[in-house]
Amino acid sequence: MEDLVSLKKYFSNKRVLVTGHTGFKGSWLCIYLKMLGAEVHGIALAPKESESIFEIANVEKGVCTSSTIDNICNTHSVSALLQDIQPEIVFHLAAQPLVIEGYNDPVETFNTNIMGVVSILESIRMCQSVEVFVNVTTDKCYENKEWCYPYRETDRLGGHDPYSASKACAEIVTNSYRQSYFPDKAIATARAGNVIGGGDWAQNRLLPDIIKAFDRGDEIEIRNPSSIRPWQHVLEPLTGYLVLAKKLGEKQGEEYSGAWNFGPHTSKNYTVGEVVKEVASCWGESANIAIDNSAEKLHETNLLMLDCSKARLKLGFEGVLSIPKAIYLTVDWYKAFYEKEDMNLFTEKQIAQYWALRNKDEQ
Ligand SMILES: NC(=O)c1ccc[n+]([C@@H]2O[C@H](COP(=O)([O-])OP(=O)(O)OC[C@H]3O[C@@H](n4cnc5c(N)ncnc54)[C@H](O)[C@@H]3O)[C@@H](O)[C@H]2O)c1
Repeated sequence: MEDLVSLKKYFSNKRVLVTGHTGFKGSWLCIYLKMLGAEVHGIALAPKESESIFEIANVEKGVCTSSTIDNICNTHSVSALLQDIQPEIVFHLAAQPLVIEGYNDPVETFNTNIMGVVSILESIRMCQSVEVFVNVTTDKCYENKEWCYPYRETDRLGGHDPYSASKACAEIVTNSYRQSYFPDKAIATARAGNVIGGGDWAQNRLLPDIIKAFDRGDEIEIRNPSSIRPWQHVLEPLTGYLVLAKKLGEKQGEEYSGAWNFGPHTSKNYTVGEVVKEVASCWGESANIAIDNSAEKLHETNLLMLDCSKARLKLGFEGVLSIPKAIYLTVDWYKAFYEKEDMNLFTEKQIAQYWALRNKDEQ
């Protein structure tokens, strides 16, 4: 099993570029990398929502060495940025990440999620310094057969809705670049499911919607209450991406290039309805819940589970948090935010807390 000390040893003083650093997962990743001693650079669009972890946790000034606001599809300027920074490791998280937004704006979704990957890979092709590239895609890249078996990295790619299809294409593009241009670079894709964690304010995501409703004292509208998602705390896949990058860097990709699933620790599945109840009990108030069936009209996958044996056996990595623990950490973060704590310090504190839990689990 990887430990924090060996991750710190690897990432210390490494120049790392995070695309999508103004977003939810990107901001957590930047804070995590800074804690590991890396020099962190970011490129993304400006935060969309009025509240964002990027601003609340002071990621731009307090974490990043440089922060660039630009469209990832501008290959020319992205390439110039890489020449300037000379990163050794690139994590690609810049994307349009929402299924419903994919239905509303398929052109933008395909453009960002496919041509954005082409743009960053093309820029890497022109930049000798990059040794490791991790492209963050999704569990939704699989052809969903709505069956009871978990998906393996060798299963067929697919994608019914525009978001899922765009991420399947992102997988194919990454693989094409790896085989065509990068015999000596370590290139991987990371497929994780729905994540939860403090600092997510995206529209139409369950946890942010519940927290916003609690904060306003409103009724909570939930879509598809019996749907099962592979919920996991954001620190679980992020730790998986970091362990993967370290292995890729150390072995120069020989056995670690390719696709990796990062799923939740638990074998117990939680429905949307159960998650809502757990959040309500952590928040400590009675919840007023309404069910919205209108979203059922759009096709959204019902059952999707990942087989993470490859990460467990080859990377020595697996998640450790139960869903109640993941929900507890998430609600705790939002409570600290509403209590006006220093959220950069609080986020770092949660990363340390997470490692304490990982170490306890391994004993
Ligand atoms: N959050 C989840 O549950 C989840 C699940 C599976 C996969 N993912 C993937 O993880 C990654 C990050 O997701 P997130 O939840 O942090 O989303 P987010 O919306 O919070 O962040 C997306 C980031 O991408 C940037 N971005 C979007 N379009 C861009 C463009 N054209 N040019 C430059 N930057 C652009 C945004 O500015 C932002 O920084 C995405 O690739 C997403 O598909 C997320």
